[in-house]
Amino acid sequence: MMLLLALLQTALLSAARAVTVYGQIPFGQTSALSATATATDSPRPVQTLAAYDETILDPPIPPQDQALTFTLHLSATNATVPNLSIMQHGSFYGFSIEISYLQVPFLNLLGQIQQRAGGMHIRIGGNTQDFAYHVDHIDGGYATSKETKDARNPTLTPAVMYTDELFNIAANISSLVNVGWYFGIPMNDTNWRLQIAERSQAILGERLLGLQAGNEPDYYLGHRHRIEPYDAYEYTEEFDSLVQAIQDNRNIPIKNMLIGPSLAAGPWLPERLWSTGYLDKFKDSLKIITMEQYDELIRYFEAHTNLKP
Ligand SMILES: *[C@@H]1O[C@H](CO)[C@@H](O)[C@H](O)[C@H]1NC(C)=O
Ligand SMILES: *[C@@H]1O[C@H](CO)[C@@H](O)[C@H](O)[C@H]1NC(C)=O
Ligand SMILES: *[C@@H]1O[C@H](CO)[C@@H](O)[C@H](O)[C@H]1NC(C)=O
Ligand SMILES: *[C@@H]1O[C@H](CO)[C@@H](O)[C@H](O)[C@H]1NC(C)=O
Repeated sequence: MMLLLALLQTALLSAARAVTVYGQIPFGQTSALSATATATDSPRPVQTLAAYDETILDPPIPPQDQALTFTLHLSATNATVPNLSIMQHGSFYGFSIEISYLQVPFLNLLGQIQQRAGGMHIRIGGNTQDFAYHVDHIDGGYATSKETKDARNPTLTPAVMYTDELFNIAANISSLVNVGWYFGIPMNDTNWRLQIAERSQAILGERLLGLQAGNEPDYYLGHRHRIEPYDAYEYTEEFDSLVQAIQDNRNIPIKNMLIGPSLAAGPWLPERLWSTGYLDKFKDSLKIITMEQYDELIRYFEAHTNLKP
């Protein structure tokens, strides 16, 4: 059946001449693995991207030892509920994708999430954003491409080049599903490359939610992106220089959508940065205050699957 479906898909794809599909490895993985599974196999996760996993899990029997009648004391208004957070939207949880990883099948997942949460926020960036640079054209119509491997990045991710297509893809996705975007301004050095800010504002308009200024700067020294001395004070100085460069750039009409400081709270505790006056100094440029936390759950996920989240 899988084979038939795969053939059918191939036939459909070849009939639709206007569609170009790059690197659909997940299709291959799914069919190869499903073909080797036997009917006697008990349900278990199939080694493929979650979007293509056809496993149906049997729900466990509901616990029988629960009280089915109980009294809940609910306040008539939220005014008397102690310690309530500010109201959160369905898009409170979002995705973070390295620039080089944006893939078309992701759209299906977004559609599913939109049905439940109303919309999504996606951040495009990470270690790759700091060395990314804009080019006018990449052969074959690709939106991103990579240089040869670069040991400067902790993940050994090579520098990514991107074209306007990166933002066109984002804009196209947002024209289909309710998605807002965060991009990151490269900060591997302070010869500011502001094309990400220029092009994302021009192409994405109000779908652009913010621009990250620095990605885990407290690791810049450790990752050898900076030489000593490099501490919260130096980062604050660089942030100032970036704010100035944006002020002076006529192709970046919205000046106050920066996101920072995105500390990993590794080498620097947030207080170390606050003591430089960062928050007060940049309150007119900052739209969002962020911290980054690499969750234990992700490590667990990586250790127990062959997937990189
Ligand atoms: C509300 O927050 C305060 C301060 O963090 C804490 O002491 C208190 O226990 C909290 N109250 C409730 C009902 O959680
Ligand atoms: C409390 O309720 C009011 C009225 O429904 C609403 O506007 C407000 O956002 C709520 N606040 C929180 C923190 O949920
Ligand atoms: C920063 O990244 C750009 C683009 O990848 C590169 O041309 C430049 O040499 C890098 N700067 C440093 C100091 O490594
Ligand atoms: C979709 O992308 C194409 C270029 O690939 C662009 O010309 C078009 O304007 C985009 N559409 C939307 C709605 O953003």
